[in-house]
Amino acid sequence: MIRTYRADDWQQYRMDMYDPHRVLEPLEKETAVVDAALEALREAEVLPHTRYDHAKMLAHRQAVSELFDIPWTAITPRMHRLLYAINAVAQPKNMIAAGVFCGNTFIANAGAAVGPGACYCARDLVGVEIKPEEAARAEGNVRRIDPSGVARVVAADAVEFVAAFDESLDLLYLDADGAGGRGKGVYLDILEAGYDRMPAGSLVLAHNSVNLADRLKHYLEFVRDPAHCRSSVNVIFDSEGLEVSLK
Ligand SMILES: C[S@@+](CC[C@H](N)C(=O)[O-])C[C@H]1O[C@@H](n2cnc3c(N)ncnc32)[C@H](O)[C@@H]1O
Repeated sequence: MIRTYRADDWQQYRMDMYDPHRVLEPLEKETAVVDAALEALREAEVLPHTRYDHAKMLAHRQAVSELFDIPWTAITPRMHRLLYAINAVAQPKNMIAAGVFCGNTFIANAGAAVGPGACYCARDLVGVEIKPEEAARAEGNVRRIDPSGVARVVAADAVEFVAAFDESLDLLYLDADGAGGRGKGVYLDILEAGYDRMPAGSLVLAHNSVNLADRLKHYLEFVRDPAHCRSSVNVIFDSEGLEVSLK
């Protein structure tokens, strides 16, 4: 059985990728939809609880809108809130986000530990981007919100970077759009490169579980197999989707 959380209006909820901060719905509606997704994750035992600081999330969002250069993004406000909340609840010490483009997806995750939305202390939060010019822009964006360097962006192939990461990996966020060495989509290559260093209870988040489900077929089969992940939920509240899996 494929576990799914589906918001009734997911096909109507649409953003303008070139105007990422435009308000799409009342804040109460956004919060309620994300709360329902978090509750589905809690019921599936992917998350231990659903509590996070809503005021800190808004402070984080405000800082990103003021400080980040974002040419475009497909991260909807609902998705941004969900990523922040999952990180605020799970509090990963070490996190890698793969394929971060300008850094918006990365800071949606890392913003729970750095900048005005910080609610815990992390050790090493790394965004990995294969295009050096995009990695440089993302690093500049992140430095404006986190002078500490706990959150950082590197120019590298995420498969190689994750394979060489010698700490335990508590949360892996996947958003790289490469084809992958075996033509199966690069998400599975990246996960397999880090799987052995992910402790029981660690999380894997995969963007595009809806609009790229065909390309992610092998990845989704892997994380939905109880031999690999204890629980996995497809969160569908926008046209992109997020598969959230617990090792
Ligand atoms: C579609 S973008 C992600 C954008 C993000 N979903 C957003 O809406 O802001 C995917 C990024 O992954 C990068 N990428 C592709 N293959 C990669 C790899 N093997 N390692 C690291 N980054 C990779 C691409 O250069 C691109 O910037």
